[in-house]
Amino acid sequence: MSSKIRWGILATGGIAATFTEDLLTLPDAEVVAVGSRTAASARAFADRYGIPCAHGTWADLAADPDVDIVYVATPHHAHREATALCLEAGKPVLCEKAFTLNEPDARYLVDLAEQRGLFLMEAMWMRCNPAILKLAELVADGAIGDVRTVQADFGLAGPFPADGRMRDPNLGGGALLDLGVYPIAFAQLLLGAPDSVAAHALLTPEGVDANTGMLFGYDSGAHATLTCSITSDTAARAYVAGPGGRFELPPVFFRPDHFTLHREGAEPEEFRVPYHGNGMAHEAVEAMRCLREGLTESPLVPWRSTLDVMATMDEIRRQIGVRYPGENA
Ligand SMILES: NC(=O)c1ccc[n+]([C@@H]2O[C@H](COP(=O)([O-])OP(=O)(O)OC[C@H]3O[C@@H](n4cnc5c(N)ncnc54)[C@H](OP(=O)(O)O)[C@@H]3O)[C@@H](O)[C@H]2O)c1
Repeated sequence: MSSKIRWGILATGGIAATFTEDLLTLPDAEVVAVGSRTAASARAFADRYGIPCAHGTWADLAADPDVDIVYVATPHHAHREATALCLEAGKPVLCEKAFTLNEPDARYLVDLAEQRGLFLMEAMWMRCNPAILKLAELVADGAIGDVRTVQADFGLAGPFPADGRMRDPNLGGGALLDLGVYPIAFAQLLLGAPDSVAAHALLTPEGVDANTGMLFGYDSGAHATLTCSITSDTAARAYVAGPGGRFELPPVFFRPDHFTLHREGAEPEEFRVPYHGNGMAHEAVEAMRCLREGLTESPLVPWRSTLDVMATMDEIRRQIGVRYPGENA
């Protein structure tokens, strides 16, 4: 591996652009190739960012000997295929959220990475955000006592077109996988996988969830109340509370640069934490640290957390009646 980690970008949409912009700010990263379903799209993206190599197929990107790690940024339904292709070609992968359509697909990719001894990480950037890490550390150190309540929401009003990736079931559409994954990952970061889940949703005519409420229960007595929506513009705030006080995260709660501790009888205490670029640089730095240290799994975004979030989303979809094409009854 050269002194710079050489990235390949798979897919050329909105988040691929945002992530690439952040990579270009990192002195120890280099974007050496992009791969797309079409040569024209790969070429346009390469020209836009000065990327030396444009591949017109995912397989060509996966086989590129100059690429150290691939970032997968397709719609959800294609994460499994694209990530497996790269792992089978011997490439480490950072794959966008939601990691796959369901837990069995996520398990398949984790097993593949484990068998091949390759690095694999869900691009759950929230778990690499320095403010979130600080908050989790303070909570673990008992700053507010045992966590009793987590609340988080993420909703966008749209409107989103029925054939776009936010709504099309063939692309893994719906509020849950795209937006709900953040409140869920936040609750599970602080409280772990829930002991019980209850969900309620409005579905779109296409049969994906449009507006979803979730209640997680824990045997400890804690609970989390979470919402996601592609039909309403929610505040995108979060808080975590216990007997000793409450941490509040401002919008957008999963990419904060500060948060506040409220305690009975005390002035609010603000914590400010450095933030880099579009906020995606932190996950790239973590992936590169893991590669350099020969890790297959990031301690910040462990496979267990990805699998647990996918399993929770499977249970929520079972309750609200959302099934993606090709999934068994
Ligand atoms: N971390 C974040 O903050 C964040 C924000 C937004 C989205 N995301 C995640 O990033 C992923 C992509 O989202 P996006 O907003 O970038 O989507 P997007 O703008 O629609 O781009 C997705 C790209 O995937 C490729 N693609 C489109 N349709 C496809 C299909 N049917 N099969 C395979 N590939 C297809 C296209 O690239 P080519 O034409 O080059 O093939 C397209 O440009 C999703 O997993 C999403 O949840 C993350």
